[in-house]
This record gives sequence, C-alpha cells and structure tokens, in this order.
Amino acid sequence: MLPLRLLSLLLLSSSLCDAGGTCPPTLNLLILDSPVVITEYGKNTLVNCTMEEEEDLKEMTLVLGNDTAESSGYESFVFINTKLTDWNAKGECKIKLNESVECSQEIEVIVYKTPEVFLSVNLKEKANYKLQCDVFNAAPVQNLTIKWYKNDEQIHAKSFSETIRTPVNESSMLEVSVSREANDAQFRCEAQLELGPSGPLLPVVSQTHTLSALYPPEFMSNHSGSITVPKGDNISLSCEADGIPSPEYQWTVDDGQGILDNSSKLSIIKVNRSATYNCTATNELGSITLSVNVHVSEVTTTAAAAATPRPLTPVQQVCDLTTTPPEVVVKFGDPVQINCSTSRADVDVLGWESSVGGNSKRNYSLVTLEIKKLEDWKFQPSCFSTLNNGKQCMENPVIHVYKTPDFVSVSAESHRPITDGSKCELRCDIYNVAPVHGLTVKWYKDNKTVFTGNLSSSDVTPHNLSSSLFATFDKSDNGSLFRCEVELQLGSKGPEFVPSAVSEPYTAVVHYRPFIKDCPRNFTAEENKFSVNDLSCTTDGNPPPDVKWYLNGEQVNTNKTLSWTDSGVYTAKFTNSEGNISTSVFITVEYSPSLTCEMHYEVKVNEKPKTLCEPKGLPTPNIVWFKNGKETILPERWSKNNSGNYSLKAQNKHGGAEHKFYLDVLYAPEFKEKNTSKYLIPGGNVTFGCRAEGNPSPEIKWSFRRADNLKETTEGRQKIITITGATSTNAGFYICAATNKVGTVTRTVTLAERDKTSGSFIWLVILLVILIVLGLLFLFFCYRKKKCGQYTFVSSTDRSSIPMTANSAAGKTSADINNSL
Ligand SMILES: *[C@@H]1O[C@H](CO)[C@@H](O)[C@H](O)[C@H]1NC(C)=O
Ligand SMILES: *[C@@H]1O[C@H](CO)[C@@H](O)[C@H](O)[C@H]1NC(C)=O
Ligand SMILES: *[C@@H]1O[C@H](CO)[C@@H](O)[C@H](O)[C@H]1NC(C)=O
Ligand SMILES: *[C@@H]1O[C@H](CO)[C@@H](O)[C@H](O)[C@H]1NC(C)=O
Ligand SMILES: *[C@@H]1O[C@H](CO)[C@@H](O)[C@H](O)[C@H]1NC(C)=O
Ligand SMILES: *[C@@H]1O[C@H](CO)[C@@H](O)[C@H](O)[C@H]1NC(C)=O
Ligand SMILES: *[C@@H]1O[C@H](CO)[C@@H](O)[C@H](O)[C@H]1NC(C)=O
Ligand SMILES: *[C@@H]1O[C@H](CO)[C@@H](O)[C@H](O)[C@H]1NC(C)=O
Ligand SMILES: *[C@@H]1O[C@H](CO)[C@@H](O)[C@H](O)[C@H]1NC(C)=O
Ligand SMILES: *[C@@H]1O[C@H](CO)[C@@H](O)[C@H](O)[C@H]1NC(C)=O
Ligand SMILES: *[C@@H]1O[C@H](CO)[C@@H](O)[C@H](O)[C@H]1NC(C)=O
Ligand SMILES: *[C@@H]1O[C@H](CO)[C@@H](O)[C@H](O)[C@H]1NC(C)=O
Repeated sequence: MLPLRLLSLLLLSSSLCDAGGTCPPTLNLLILDSPVVITEYGKNTLVNCTMEEEEDLKEMTLVLGNDTAESSGYESFVFINTKLTDWNAKGECKIKLNESVECSQEIEVIVYKTPEVFLSVNLKEKANYKLQCDVFNAAPVQNLTIKWYKNDEQIHAKSFSETIRTPVNESSMLEVSVSREANDAQFRCEAQLELGPSGPLLPVVSQTHTLSALYPPEFMSNHSGSITVPKGDNISLSCEADGIPSPEYQWTVDDGQGILDNSSKLSIIKVNRSATYNCTATNELGSITLSVNVHVSEVTTTAAAAATPRPLTPVQQVCDLTTTPPEVVVKFGDPVQINCSTSRADVDVLGWESSVGGNSKRNYSLVTLEIKKLEDWKFQPSCFSTLNNGKQCMENPVIHVYKTPDFVSVSAESHRPITDGSKCELRCDIYNVAPVHGLTVKWYKDNKTVFTGNLSSSDVTPHNLSSSLFATFDKSDNGSLFRCEVELQLGSKGPEFVPSAVSEPYTAVVHYRPFIKDCPRNFTAEENKFSVNDLSCTTDGNPPPDVKWYLNGEQVNTNKTLSWTDSGVYTAKFTNSEGNISTSVFITVEYSPSLTCEMHYEVKVNEKPKTLCEPKGLPTPNIVWFKNGKETILPERWSKNNSGNYSLKAQNKHGGAEHKFYLDVLYAPEFKEKNTSKYLIPGGNVTFGCRAEGNPSPEIKWSFRRADNLKETTEGRQKIITITGATSTNAGFYICAATNKVGTVTRTVTLAERDKTSGSFIWLVILLVILIVLGLLFLFFCYRKKKCGQYTFVSSTDRSSIPMTANSAAGKTSADINNSL
C-alpha cells in the first residue's frame, strides 16, 4: 500500500512541475472540481480551478480545448463554461506565484455522445430469428455496453475494448428462437455508456420487437372439401392457413393451367367443369396443401339459367328522378316503401309502375310506393314521370328480395358408420333460399371453420342447393359435431346482421379398433382384495370394446378375487367390430404368512437345523423363533439340550402367523460302561445288568446261551441277568444290544470260569508275600527307632484286616455292577 501511495505522490508532483518554473513538491495548491471532466458533446460544461490558500499569485490560467481563461491577482479561482465540440479536447490549470514558482495540473476530458439504437429482425432458416442491434454514433466506445433483453430479462451483453474517442457505429447480433409453448417473446436491446455519475444515467433503449414462435402453415383441419355449384356460377374458394411467418398461397388446378392465384382466396368465374383445385400454403418453415373438388351440377345450372335479364324499354329515358332509397334489400314478405321525387317544375304526372302498389299523381313532386307485404321474387317497380311536353322519364330502383333457407341439414352420404381412416362425404342440404348470389356455405367442425365455399347464380328465385365436405375421418373425429351454415351476403344495403341459417349438428360416429391408453405392465395386489376387474386398464375403441382376460390360455372370471395361487401373466384381449388388441399384465398376488406345520418335530443330534416349518407368504415373511417363550436363534447343529417347546412367528406387511410345536432332539443309545469280563465261581451267584441312554429310550436286549439257572429281569430301564448256582456251562459271551430308531449299540460281558481252590491258593500266596514284606519293613523300622511297641499293635490289626481285602474287593465288584445297571 505504502509504495503505491508514494508512486501516486511522485506522479502528482511530476505533473505539477512545469517546464517554465519549478513547483515545490510539497506545494499542493490547485483544487479542481474533478480531475476528469465528463461532458456530452456540444453541451455546456463548467470547469472551475481553485487555489487552495489565498496566496499572492501573479497569474492563474485555465485551458480547456480551444478556450483559455485567466485570472490575475484578485480572485483565487478561474473557470470556463463552454460547449465542447472537440473529441480530443484536453485541459490544464496553471498558476504562477512568482517568476520561479509555477505549478500546473492536467485535466482529462472525456467527451461522450449518447448513441441512437435500432433493432432489426431477420428470419434465419428454420425456426430462428436473427436480431441485429445497431448503435450509431457512440463515444467513447470503450465505455459502451450493448445489452440484450428477452421479456425484460437480460440475456446477453457485449462490450468493446477499442479506445477511440470519436463516435463510432457498432452492432451486436443475436440469434434467438421462440418456442411455441411460450407463444411469443419481447426482445429489445439497450446501449449504455458507463461513465459514472457525471455520464448519462439511462441507457438508450431500442424499440421492442415482439417475436412469435415460428411454425409451418397449418390448416384448421386437414379436411379437404368439395363443393357443388351450378354450371356457369362464380365461386370463391378459401384456404386460410395459420403459420408464422404468414404463409404465401398458391392455387393450382389439375388441368395444367399453372398457377391460378397467389392469395388465400380463389375466385372462379363461370365454372363450367368439375375440377380439383389445390391450394398450397408455404412459409419458410414448410408448406401444406389443401384440395377442393368443385363439382359442377347440371340441375342447378338449369335453375340458374332460368334467370332472365330485366328488359329495358328503349324509349325510356332517365330524367331528373330520384328514388330513395335507390337500392333496397328486402326480406320476402316484408313491407317496403320507396319514394320517388323530382325537382323539375315541368312534371305533369309522377307515379310508380309496379306489379303491386302502383300509383300516380298529378302536380306532385314526390310519390311513394308502399307495399305491406312484398311477395314477388322478381319485383321490379319503375318510377316514371310525364313531362308537360309529353316526354316520359323512368328510374328503376334496385330491389333485392331475399329469403333465408327453410331448412339446412347435414347428413352423411352413407348411413353406415365411418371407419377410421376412411374418406367420407358429408352433405349439406339447403332448402329454399334466395338469392343464390352471394351465398356463403361454411362448414364447421366443433365450432372451427373447416371449409368455406361461395355459391352464386343470377337467379333470384328460391332454390334448393347442396354443398359437400369430403373428409378423411380418424378416431379423433369420433363425436365431432359438423354443422353447415349458410350466410346471405347482401352487400352494404343488406341488414345489419348478415342473415344466416345453420344446420343441426351432425355427430360423426367413427368406428375404430381398440387401443390401449394406459395399462400397467406389472401389478401387485393383495390376496382376496383384488379382482382383475379392479385393474385400471383403460382402453378406447368404438364400438366400446369387449374385454376378456386369460391366464395360461384359460379365460379368467374377472369378478373373482384373486388368491395367492393366482399370480401370473394375465392377458387381456380387447375386441370390437374393427379389430382387437392384446396386452399382458404380470399380477403378483401378495398374501399374509401362514404356517402349516406339525405339532411335534424330531431331529437328530448334530444335524444342521433344516427348515422345519416353512412359512408361506408374499413378500417372504420375517421369521422369529421362540424357545420356551424366549426369543432365540437356532443353533448351528442340534444338541441334546435343544429339545423343548418352540414357537415360530412369521410376519410380513399383510399380517402374521404363529405356530407352536415341540422339538425332540433324538440321539442313538449310549452305554455308560465299556465291555467287561466277569468270573464265575461254580455254585456261586453272578449278577450283571445292561443300561443305556438314548432318545427315544432304547430297547435293551441281551443275547446269551440259555440255561435254567439264568434269569433275565427288568428293573427300571435296565435288564439284569442273574445266574444262580453258576456252572461252567454258564461261561461265555453275554451281548447287550441297546436299540432305538436312531441306532443300535452293543456291549459284551465275558463270563469266564475260575477254579475256587486255585483262586484261594493264589490269595494265600499273595497274603504270605504281603506278610513277609510287612514283617521286613517292621523290623527295619524297629532298628532305626527305639519306640516300636505301639507299632506292634498296628501291625497286628493290619494283619487281621488282610483276609478282609478279598471279600471287600469282591463286594465292591458286585456294587460296581449294581451301579452300572
Ligand atoms: C469556483 O470555485 C470557487 C471556490 O470554490 C467559488 O467561490 C466560485 O464561485 C466558483 N465559480 C463558479 C463559476 O462556480
Ligand atoms: C480548436 O483548435 C484546433 C487546433 O488548434 C482546431 O483544429 C479546431 O478546429 C479548433 N476548434 C474550434 C471549435 O475552434
Ligand atoms: C516565490 O514564492 C514562493 C512561495 O510562496 C516563495 O517561497 C519564494 O521565496 C518566492 N520567490 C520569489 C523570488 O519571490
Ligand atoms: C455511422 O453511421 C451513420 C449512419 O449510417 C453514418 O452517417 C456515419 O458516418 C457512420 N459513422 C461512422 C464512424 O462510420
Ligand atoms: C471507461 O472505460 C475505460 C476503459 O474501459 C475504463 O478504464 C473506465 O473506468 C471507464 N469509465 C467509467 C466511468 O466506467
Ligand atoms: C395434416 O396433415 C399433415 C401431413 O399429412 C400432418 O403432418 C398434420 O399433422 C395433419 N394435421 C392435422 C391437424 O391432422
Ligand atoms: C392436388 O393435390 C393432390 C394431393 O394432395 C395431388 O394428388 C394432385 O396431384 C394435386 N393436383 C395439383 C393440380 O396440384
Ligand atoms: C361451440 O360453441 C357453442 C356456443 O358458443 C358452445 O356451447 C359449445 O360448447 C361449443 N362446442 C365446442 C365443441 O367447442
Ligand atoms: C360472375 O362474375 C362476372 C365478372 O365479375 C360477372 O360478369 C357475372 O355476371 C358473374 N356471374 C354471376 C352468375 O354472378
Ligand atoms: C415386472 O415384474 C417382473 C417379475 O416380477 C420383473 O421381472 C420385471 O422387471 C417387472 N417389470 C417392471 C417394468 O417393473
Ligand atoms: C361379474 O359381475 C357383474 C356384476 O357384478 C355381472 O354382471 C357379471 O356377470 C359377472 N361376471 C362373471 C363372469 O361372473
Ligand atoms: C445264591 O442265591 C440263592 C437264591 O437267591 C441263595 O439261596 C443262595 O444262598 C445264594 N448263594 C450264595 C453263595 O450266596
């Protein structure tokens, strides 16, 4: 920041220093309103240079462009008020304090000119407009911005970088399109000189152009028409089309006459043959053609030809006779009154010659023809005067007698219904209308004019006429109302409201094959709450189509509510007299969970839990398990303690279900004991049992050799074998088999015979060895310790307990067996 200030100070001081004298750098004497003067070309501007302190000064000079102002001595300021017309004008303010001190300051001058702005619009190809904003005489151009606005919203801006002080012409181009939805949009451009508060405040705004969406020509409808006219008549065909830019028209006829006309209306004088006239409406965006068949009818021609021109007697002269009104349009049966007057003095008789109401008067200058009820189609009265010299004068007012049709009706040529896409002729019958001349027949479809035709004939008597409309009908025309309106164009003398008659509407009935307007591809329904009839599948067709639904090729009762088994692809066939159409809907029937399960389940230990009880439901239900009332998770593999009362809850958005059952974990029998051997003492008793656990409880079965002294008993869950008074024949293998539905296990008890004596002999030898060892130990201890008397007693009790050992051992064995049973 500091260096920048320093720099500006230096710049200022250097500008203050002039070549003529020196200016002390500290001296800051001059004050200007503004160091930059912004002024409009040719407008008054005031520049005032003031000295800061009242100092004695020799002279003070202000230069601005070609103007110079001086002040000497008494005033501390100098000013110039001038019109600047120099684009490159510069200014300077100088003071001279004394011969050695002279200071000056330059004044920057910006001369500006507010431009003129023009917006022009060109049409580019396709639906684009090319806009050009021309800015004339803008200065200085570096401060100019051209801004574009669409509906008051800025859309584009262009600024310029050249530094030119004199006025320049600039332009900005913009290509825009207007969508048909937007209808139209307003565009303008603005030129703004951005010169700060002393410059122009407001921009110069161009005129606003409202641009419409561009679109190719369109007829109100594509109906091409047909008209029947009497031969020799004049007709006028109309082919008004919509389109932006406005379409250009070209009428052609199918006999190679080339282009007939270039306006939207074609007048054909004295039609003498039937022909097809095409009108092409073209604009930059496209073109469209309409065909009109003109049928020349011989019947009406003869009627028209019956008209005879009014005879004019050659002797009659037109003198100074005035009929008021000179032209009368009167409705058949209405009253009419016409005055005939003359200003001549030499009139002897003045009167009316007429089929009705004729009269004459002598020495009158005005006679009136008055008819209460005019009922003459060819009514042609003449006013005459006989002058004193016998000459006759005559004046014929023009009389038009008209009559609106008694009846106008529209009918279809064929009484069969119209089929989609077929051509059909609608006929408008007009009964008893006069005159045929100046008759306009307008065809309306739903209040829109689709065809206008003019009929004309010189015949003034009533006629029956008809007009035809040839059209291609499609389904959108079904129910359209067609009307035919007859207007009697009677000219400026006619009634204020053009007399007209309109037909009753004819309702077009178009038969078309069914089509599907809206039908889902997939549908999710809830069980028992939905039948196929509830499916919103909208179709259209005329006659209204019949619908049949099929599932897997079989017709479905659409009233029946669907159950969960009814999911599938349903096919609908819509049929009417014009055709048929099919569509398919995938219907998914959702239902609340249900559980059809057993009350009791058996599983085997170590098995992986398989689905015991699968719930049904859509969407797939969530399952929660409970064991003995508590929420649980099923184990990886079943174990013995998993048996119990379980319940299962299944839930989805449509409901829930619960099931309780008992789970039984089965396992194969297991013995607590291993295979053993036993000895029998002849004559002694031997008892052993067999017991096994398992789920379900195993069945125990001993296999052995039968003997009389052997008894098999059941005690609780074990089977016991008792041998009383055993003999050697009892020796052998006793096999116990435990069986349940899971499996069978076996265990063997080997019963071996042992001699009684040899047994006691072995016992005796063992006893003897023990006694000897004990005796030796006793002696050994007595030698080492003095007190040994007490031990004698102990040793004697030991000795007495020795024979008991065999018994207690035997008793223990039997107890063990008991335990194991
Ligand atoms: C010029 O400025 C001085 C001092 O501000 C003032 O007294 C004087 O009236 C001004 N002159 C004009 C013409 O405005
Ligand atoms: C101002 O002076 C310049 C050159 O000194 C001259 O070209 C110009 O025409 C003068 N302008 C007027 C308006 O006198
Ligand atoms: C000129 O004026 C300046 C400033 O007032 C002053 O310092 C200087 O002495 C003067 N010189 C003469 C020669 O009067
Ligand atoms: C700007 O356009 C105007 C009008 O066309 C013309 O008279 C004038 O000379 C042009 N100026 C320049 C600088 O071209
Ligand atoms: C005028 O334009 C110049 C050059 O673009 C710019 O430096 C200057 O600030 C502008 N003046 C104003 C008042 O905006
Ligand atoms: C008229 O016919 C043209 C071309 O056959 C078609 O593009 C246009 O959509 C039709 N317009 C109407 C209103 O049917
Ligand atoms: C008139 O138009 C029809 C179809 O639009 C066409 O077939 C026929 O040739 C055209 N006739 C003339 C004379 O252009
Ligand atoms: C036609 O115009 C009549 C009267 O203005 C109106 O009642 C009727 O609804 C219109 N019909 C259509 C199809 O626009
Ligand atoms: C048809 O028009 C021609 C020329 O304008 C005219 O002379 C003739 O009388 C008209 N014919 C009828 C029947 O109006
Ligand atoms: C309709 O449902 C079927 C079967 O559920 C599925 O495969 C298909 O993607 C679905 N289609 C749509 C459009 O949702
Ligand atoms: C369906 O119900 C409607 C009225 O509720 C009945 O007229 C029609 O016969 C029924 N259709 C079938 C196939 O039951
Ligand atoms: C063997 O059992 C029988 C019958 O219970 C009994 O009478 C007999 O005393 C028993 N013999 C021995 C040696 O215990």
